[in-house]
Amino acid sequence: MEKIGLFYGPSGGSVEKVARMIERMIGRDKIDLIPIKEADAGKINQYQNIIFGLSTVGKHTWDMDVPEDAWSAFMPELEKVDYGNKRFALYGLGDHITYSLHFVDSLGTVAKELMQHGAAVIGQVDPSGYEFQDSDAIIDGRFAGLPLDEDYESAKTPERLQNWLDIILKEFK
Ligand SMILES: Cc1cc2nc3c(=O)[nH]c(=O)nc-3n(C[C@H](O)[C@H](O)[C@H](O)COP(=O)(O)O)c2cc1C
Repeated sequence: MEKIGLFYGPSGGSVEKVARMIERMIGRDKIDLIPIKEADAGKINQYQNIIFGLSTVGKHTWDMDVPEDAWSAFMPELEKVDYGNKRFALYGLGDHITYSLHFVDSLGTVAKELMQHGAAVIGQVDPSGYEFQDSDAIIDGRFAGLPLDEDYESAKTPERLQNWLDIILKEFK
């Protein structure tokens, strides 16, 4: 398998914590961790197997396109990515209690943007294992990637991650 590029942001919180868990589970020699604030299309194009890690900090914040939001700043780079021969898998941090109506919305925002560019997005997850009221990350009845809740369900994270990695690692080239 080609080396995986894991692009994550923001740095210093739960998204980065999960990125480091993935690195430990897969093995350091098989994956590069790259903060999204340091990434551009050229960096993405160095990989065929790509994981995006992000959190949801509210649709309101996202829509305002706050400059310090590293993912908002990165999004225009997606227009310059060469999507041939690449596979993308996404995980999203959220809080299913406080933000039950917007659970991991940003996972859907980024996945839809990728799909608009014709990207192959893998690693969809059945929502039956989650409690929430609504989510923009549901596409055709499934989460567009792996939702994780380190605020209220951190005990479930290792098993959720392992199950998801088992699936996407088979589909990466
Ligand atoms: C201001 C704010 C808004 C949030 N909005 C949402 C939301 O709309 N949906 C959701 O699922 N989680 C929401 N969360 C929860 C975060 O996504 C969650 O705490 C996540 O683990 C943060 O990851 P990070 O520390 O890497 O940024 C919000 C958190 C904050 C502080």
